[in-house]
Amino acid sequence: MKKFLGLLILAASVSTAWAAGEDTFKQVCATCHAQGDKGSPKIGDVRAWSKLIKEGQVNLTADGYAGVRAMPARGSKPDLSVADFAAAVVYMANEAGAKWKEPDEAMLKKINARLAQRERSKK
Ligand code: HEC
Repeated sequence: MKKFLGLLILAASVSTAWAAGEDTFKQVCATCHAQGDKGSPKIGDVRAWSKLIKEGQVNLTADGYAGVRAMPARGSKPDLSVADFAAAVVYMANEAGAKWKEPDEAMLKKINARLAQRERSKK
């Protein structure tokens, strides 16, 4: 297990940020989003994604990370960071015509703030 984690960390640190979004998609999100399983918005489905893209990058990223309806929190990968999740969202949104960039510090702060707000409202 330790060896496996080490490999994961190595893999994460050598890949560039842009490729990371696509990698995370392939490794984690594709299970459902490649085919639109369980009613998930399918990769490249402009109609399904255009509604989501309108929610804005901060809200969509935070809501997806926290989990909505049949979408499992963190794409059911508990150790997935907000930044990695966000990169995968950027990848999927852009495949459907958005021109999003990976969140900078300021946007990550907003995403984290919305996540904290959601945590509080659950209690
Ligand atoms: C187990 C299947 C599954 C996996 C794995 C999964 N998703 Fe989803 N996802 C869904 C489903 C189902 C929905 C639709 C939820 C709904 O609207 O009922 C969804 C919806 C979403 C949404 C839209 C949320 C909203 O506000 O409506 C985003 C963004 C998203 N997923 C991102 C991701 C990312 C990024 C990953 C990988 C890190 C991922 N998903 C992995 C099933 C999955």
